[in-house]
Amino acid sequence: MAEYKLTEEEQEAAFQQRIDDEQKIEPKDWMPEAYRKNLIRQISQHAHSEVIGEQPEGNWITRSPSLRRKAVLLAKVQDEAGHGLYLYSAAESLGISRAEMIEALQTGKAKYASIFNYPSQTWGDVGAIGWLVDGAAIVNQVSLQRTSYGPYSRAMIKICKEESFHQRQGYQIMIELAKGTPAQKQMAQDSLNRFYWPALMMFGPHDSESAHSAKSMKWKIKRETNDDLRQKFIDQTVPQIEFLGLEHPDKAIKWNEERGHYDSGELNWDEFYKVINGNGHCNRQRIQHHIKAHEEGAWVRDAQLAYNAKQKAKKAADAA
Ligand SMILES: [Fe+2]
Ligand SMILES: [Fe+2]
Repeated sequence: MAEYKLTEEEQEAAFQQRIDDEQKIEPKDWMPEAYRKNLIRQISQHAHSEVIGEQPEGNWITRSPSLRRKAVLLAKVQDEAGHGLYLYSAAESLGISRAEMIEALQTGKAKYASIFNYPSQTWGDVGAIGWLVDGAAIVNQVSLQRTSYGPYSRAMIKICKEESFHQRQGYQIMIELAKGTPAQKQMAQDSLNRFYWPALMMFGPHDSESAHSAKSMKWKIKRETNDDLRQKFIDQTVPQIEFLGLEHPDKAIKWNEERGHYDSGELNWDEFYKVINGNGHCNRQRIQHHIKAHEEGAWVRDAQLAYNAKQKAKKAADAA
């Protein structure tokens, strides 16, 4: 009896049905090529963001104001390296190698979150980054825990547990500065003013301008739209700013009773696209630093490969 082979359309329909039924898609399952490509792009971009994101904060490890602060920041930055590792592994399960992803990052073909192209100029910035940047990341990542691709979803669950510690360590720095001397309070205000808008841009362009949104929503790669997630973040940040006794950087912020949300001012989209297209403060510096660290670490990778080869040869010799 001839085996019946499903047509491409039937396979796609069955795939969509599984997604609609909230089943997770696993690495060995059939998936449309565009789903695979879309996921590789999103997960690798996410992995690059975790790793490049170590730089602005790593810049302050040696200058932390106390031993305790230094230990906390060090742990936080190490967590981000771990997040990169989970995510690169999740992307590898889709058939792309780590080396290919690193090359795409270093040659500028792959993007990472633009926020990390802003410099960290003061200790207050370390507070604002933990509070606002990790805070915005959490809003996005909580929603991604329900993403349709199994390995990505499981990585997100693990990552979210660590992110809430990151957010609190940042907010705690802000509390101390905001309740400190007038100069410290001013430092906190400046950092808030500098990082508030770029943090809002982390959610990406408006839904109407977003190239990948509709398909990603249908496939449940993304579970909520850019604008909905951004609104969530705007709403949760207002009481946090009030608690610190700082001024809101958005003069247009206003509670809208009817919508049950805050109305807010428009973002500077020219700046958004300028930074995305490689012309932020630190784009070149971040990639150069990554290349340098990668080259300096080559001996570690070589040693690992040599060790693996030795173990393999030994096993073969023992078996003979
Ligand atoms: Fe992270
Ligand atoms: Fe984080």
